[in-house]
This record gives sequence, C-alpha cells and structure tokens, in this order.
Amino acid sequence: MSVHSSANLKRITTHTLLEMKQRGEKISMLTAYDYSMAKIVDEAGIDIILVGDSASNVMAGHETTLPITLDQMIYHASAVVRAVKRAFVVVDIPFGNYQGNSSEALRSAIRIMKESGAHSVKVEGGSEIKESVLRILSAGVPVMGHLGLTPQSIYKFGTYTVRAKEEAEAQKLLEDAKTLEECGCFALVLEKIPASLAKKVAETVTIPVIGIGAGGDVDGQVLVMHDMLGITQEFKPRFLRQYADLQAVMLDAFKRYISDVKAKDFPNESESY
Ligand code: KIV
Repeated sequence: MSVHSSANLKRITTHTLLEMKQRGEKISMLTAYDYSMAKIVDEAGIDIILVGDSASNVMAGHETTLPITLDQMIYHASAVVRAVKRAFVVVDIPFGNYQGNSSEALRSAIRIMKESGAHSVKVEGGSEIKESVLRILSAGVPVMGHLGLTPQSIYKFGTYTVRAKEEAEAQKLLEDAKTLEECGCFALVLEKIPASLAKKVAETVTIPVIGIGAGGDVDGQVLVMHDMLGITQEFKPRFLRQYADLQAVMLDAFKRYISDVKAKDFPNESESY
C-alpha cells in the first residue's frame, strides 16, 4: 500500500528539474533551515529548497560555513522536510564530512537521507572530490555539485570576491562541470563567477545549472532566504535582490510589543481569560 500525504500536489523530482531545463523553464531555489520558513516557501511554489550550510552563518552566527556539523545539518534538514509537500529538498554535506574519504562521504550522505528524509545532497568542488561524488551516487543518492566560489574553501581563496575571472581557473571550472555531469550529478550550483562563463557551462552540460551571482543565462537562481528577505542587512553583494525589509518589520513589531507590555496595554481584557 502506498501512502500519499498530499494527493493533488505533484512533487518536484530530479526528473522534473531536468525537464524544466529542457523546455527552458527557469528553476527557483531558496535556502531554508527550519519548519516554519520552509512551510511558507514551499506554499509559495519554490522548486528546490536548499538546507544550506549557510545555516552556520544565518542560524548560528558563525563567520564562515566551516563550523557547522553533520548532526546540526540533519537537525535543520529534518525540520525542513517535515514542512515540505512539493519542493525538492537538497542538503549541504558540511565541511570535513566528505572531502578526504569516499567511505565517509557515503556515510554522511546516508545519514542525511535516512535521518532527515531529504531528497539529495550537495557538495562543493570538482575533480578533487570525484571519488566521493561517485561513491555517494553509487548508493542511489542524488548529488548536486557546487563550483565557483565555494564557501567551504574560503581560507584557500582568502576573500569572497568573484571566482574564475582568469582563463586557467575558468577552464578548470568548465572541466569540473563536465566531470560532475559525467559522474552523474543531477544539477550544479555556480556561485559568483562571470555571467559569460556561467552561460557557457549551462550550454555545455545537459544537467540544470543554478546560479547565485552567476548572471541570468543559467537554468535557475538561488538566494539565501534571510538575505533576500532583508533579515540580514550587513550582507549586500551586487547579486542580491532584496525582496522585503523584514528586519525593519520585525524591529517595529518587537518594539511595539515591548512598549505595550511596559505601558500595561498588553494584554487587555479581551486578550485575557
Ligand atoms: O549554503 C548555501 O546557502 C549555499 C548557497 C549559497 C548556494 O550553498
């Protein structure tokens, strides 16, 4: 017997995403890290929810994505999965849990899939992590690649500036994209690279290419939810379009609540039992 919790909603799958690329329909992707936000963004009709290791920054307040642990990613991912009825859920494997050893990569991916119920994992890097990617794929776990500015390597880069502006790095990125496609990755994220290079990658590979700071000639776009909602205000890169100013809305609500409590205006009679 099969169980359908939301009979009339067609879930997004890797196959849906491939078809979207093939018919030129852009793919929308946003991050989410908790049940309440994931529920709203899923209801809005997002195609992919990324439980990004940017949780390390926006949820935990770390300067980089490096400190977040596998257990913490699984905690965030399982909350997101409980909220989602339609979107395809991708979870970042955190720094240190897949790079050095393909058996560990497989173990990490399996823990994420088993313990959170997510639909796929994302890893950063190209040829240097090929063995790990192949090993995860061999277990039937869909893998999304991530090239360009890969925040888990921030201490190698030294800065968050645009990557692959030089020919050699651009060539390596294109080769890495082809390698990840040949391995069997279902999609790629390209972060903060020249739009012309991103366009070339999207035209070269047959799998969907999702950009963040990679121009409009790719198959879809991703943003960090807290940045596009204006909850985080200190991070304003050129590629970020802010769709709301929730920090101002929230500050106003919090201040009015504090003031009502202090003034003994809240709760009033109708708000009491
Ligand atoms: O962790 C994250 O939020 C990401 C996106 C920026 C693509 O990897």
